[in-house]
Amino acid sequence: MSSDAVVKSEAVNEPVNTGRRRFLTISTAVVGAIGAGYVAVPFLGSWMPSKKALAAGAPVEADIAKLEMGQAIKVEWRGKSVIIIRRGEDVIARLAEIEEKLHDPKSELETQQPEYALNQHRSIKKEYLVLLSWCTHLGCSPTYTPEVRADWQGGFICPCHGSKFDMAGRVYKSMPAPSNMIVPPYQYLTDTRVLIGVDQGVEA
Ligand code: FES
Repeated sequence: MSSDAVVKSEAVNEPVNTGRRRFLTISTAVVGAIGAGYVAVPFLGSWMPSKKALAAGAPVEADIAKLEMGQAIKVEWRGKSVIIIRRGEDVIARLAEIEEKLHDPKSELETQQPEYALNQHRSIKKEYLVLLSWCTHLGCSPTYTPEVRADWQGGFICPCHGSKFDMAGRVYKSMPAPSNMIVPPYQYLTDTRVLIGVDQGVEA
């Protein structure tokens, strides 16, 4: 994403229904070419919670209403980036086709993952993937690379030592990374609002 594609960051206050009715400050970076297609503009933007929320490790809310098919947003939570991607039917179908190339296609080796990460699509809703943008080798941030080529079905490529992950964050065989990318705890507040940091089924 070129820097001139970023229009502006704008701070807004979003109420989060946590029982204590916390208020998080979220800033939004909007990409100028929204709607141009995910190959050209894979990132819709990012949300940055307030310093206070970051320091407290508070849950962070993300608005996914404007996320188009194939696009991604990043949200900062507990010092790490969380990436949310909207996947089309074609992407979801390919998740089954490449399983033999993956180290742990059903996340059966995972020990600290939410229950909803232990399936083929690794998410609560198949359409939306929520992942820590954090490589399980040495913690670099894998690059979202959705473009499909003859030898690549889309996914994430780590710039540090080349680990490759599919469009569900599942690591390919024989990579430096020992396990799949991590799914953080999250839940849907509404169809278009995701709360990161609180598990599904736990009162927010
Ligand atoms: S940190 Fe990602 S491959 Fe090493």
